[in-house]
Amino acid sequence: MTQLGSTDRPAPFCGLDTWLPLPARITRVDQENFNTRTFHVQIVDDAVRSSYRWLPGQFNMLYAPGIGEAAISISSDCEQGGVLEHTIRVVGSVTRAIDRLGEGGVIGLRGPFGRGWPVDQIDGHDVVMVAGGIGLAPIRPLVYWVLRHRERCHRVILLYGCRTPDDQVYADELKAWESDGVIDALVTVDNAAQDWVGPVGVVTNLLRRVRVNAERTMVMACGPKMLNRAAAWNFLQLHVPASRVFLSLERNMNCGFGRCGHCQYGSKFVCTDGPVFAFSEIADIFASEEA
Ligand SMILES: Cc1cc2nc3c(=O)[nH]c(=O)nc-3n(C[C@H](O)[C@H](O)[C@H](O)COP(=O)(O)OP(=O)(O)OC[C@H]3O[C@@H](n4cnc5c(N)ncnc54)[C@H](O)[C@@H]3O)c2cc1C
Ligand code: FES
Repeated sequence: MTQLGSTDRPAPFCGLDTWLPLPARITRVDQENFNTRTFHVQIVDDAVRSSYRWLPGQFNMLYAPGIGEAAISISSDCEQGGVLEHTIRVVGSVTRAIDRLGEGGVIGLRGPFGRGWPVDQIDGHDVVMVAGGIGLAPIRPLVYWVLRHRERCHRVILLYGCRTPDDQVYADELKAWESDGVIDALVTVDNAAQDWVGPVGVVTNLLRRVRVNAERTMVMACGPKMLNRAAAWNFLQLHVPASRVFLSLERNMNCGFGRCGHCQYGSKFVCTDGPVFAFSEIADIFASEEA
């Protein structure tokens, strides 16, 4: 597949009308935890499927027929075409309806939307990824990207936290990433069962374990607001420039392409200016939220 830098953002593959969802079939469903499943989805049209391109950190709008749409990150490997994976926490009407359709069901898909992780800036950097809960879904394509292009960066660290061992997503892959040593992966849980041998405590505790070379560190974080905030402050205090601390944000979405204003965040639209922002772009908005 052709390789894209994050500045060459792929245009949405929605046909002539960006509002019109493309039919896409659910070909497989993997259980991640009690309310979260990974849906493997194939765009039905052969030509569109084979030309669909996207970058780590981008998202699709998934449509449950007759119910509505939800923004869902693409969680698979962007250099492996054909099947798109979406890891969905079943929380409301759209995600429940997609879940009910299950394997063989046909949904609608618009995208890819948004600005993803800055993979074109990775060269020569230490990369620290911080994820909480389902925030690992948009980070996972970044892990795949780094594993494919390992020679382009120095240290690669993945810090992941969730409530209990049973709440992990991609548990088998996390084990493989932890043990194979290609990246430094560390998983922590807030509450452990007796057979858990890893760290216990919130993911922000792991931040203290990271030795940071501020001159060459890039941070990419996605999780609940508290996690994003803690990750940003932690690395800023360690003198990592705000322009190299990246956060993926969530806001209510409707159009996905900058028309409706639903996702407005200060002067930004999360769907087009984000969802990934350098902290330097949103520091003022962050500060005004805290005031
Ligand atoms: C850029 C972007 C990427 C996203 N990627 C993913 C993804 O990869 N996987 C995923 O599962 N979701 C993802 N989301 C979140 C998803 O879009 C929302 O959860 C969406 O509202 C689900 O639609 P729904 O109709 O099922 O639930 P809604 O009807 O919108 O919500 C129902 C109820 O659930 C609550 N709720 C909504 N979202 C959450 C949540 N995340 N956690 C806890 N409670 C919630 C609401 O407050 C509401 O009370 C993403 C959002 C954005 C903006
Ligand atoms: S979702 Fe419509 S402007 Fe962002």
